[in-house]
Amino acid sequence: MNGMKQHAPIGVFDSGVGGLTVAKEIMRALPGETIVYYGDTARVPYGTKSPETVTAYSRQIAKFLMSQQVKAMVVACNTISALALETIEKEFDVPFIGVVKPGARTAAGATRNKKIGVIATEGTISSGMYESFLKSLNPEVKVYGKACPLFVALAEEGWLQDPITKQVAERYLVELKEKEIDTLVLGCTHYPLLRKVIGEVMGEKVTLVNPAYETAQELRYVLEDNHILNDSKEAAAHKFYVSDGAEKFRRIANMILPCEIEVEDVAIKSFE
Ligand code: DGL
Repeated sequence: MNGMKQHAPIGVFDSGVGGLTVAKEIMRALPGETIVYYGDTARVPYGTKSPETVTAYSRQIAKFLMSQQVKAMVVACNTISALALETIEKEFDVPFIGVVKPGARTAAGATRNKKIGVIATEGTISSGMYESFLKSLNPEVKVYGKACPLFVALAEEGWLQDPITKQVAERYLVELKEKEIDTLVLGCTHYPLLRKVIGEVMGEKVTLVNPAYETAQELRYVLEDNHILNDSKEAAAHKFYVSDGAEKFRRIANMILPCEIEVEDVAIKSFE
């Protein structure tokens, strides 16, 4: 019955290039699945915007991806997962998978001293969602949140290992180091792009958690449960769309992904 749907693509979206860190994990964990990606590069960042704005933007993207006949939607953005997912998942007839719950599960399993840091956008930190998921998994954990908005701009710029990025990281992360956390959640999908620098600043005793791994696993369970997993050996051609700056996006994407891609512009505002 689900034979046709099995071959449908997975919608993956973010405010920009950050969601590519999740797309990459999906490609690795589920090589038969084809991705249709949307990066809202004209309106990035989302992390400084209100829940209403983030919800309205996400709804437009979900409508566009539904027009591509996706069978499931991966919200490859912590800000959207924290501020809008609960509202928009009810409006569409496909399963939605966010990144916050999988990230919290991994971190709760990784910590030894029960002190967990979360770095994310202002929107994600002020939603308190990581803290409440982490505490529901283990009431004894202490959670220290820190918004690092400049990381998004540095990642969009492709300054992944620049001395300026290191200076910014040192300034943002000093207070988490002082708390002696042993686990740090990269709670924004842009941040794993700066993983090397963040790891150098935090030191090797701190475990960095990238929610993308667990998100790809969760996607697998959801597809299996719905009998729509595509277990072919190879995916069809992945598709990438943005709302602005296709060429710049393509350049950065080709640094991140294991395959060369083409990128097209789509006017997202028409998807009301
Ligand atoms: N990559 C996104 C996240 O995971 C959003 C970054 C932004 O647009 O501010 O939160």
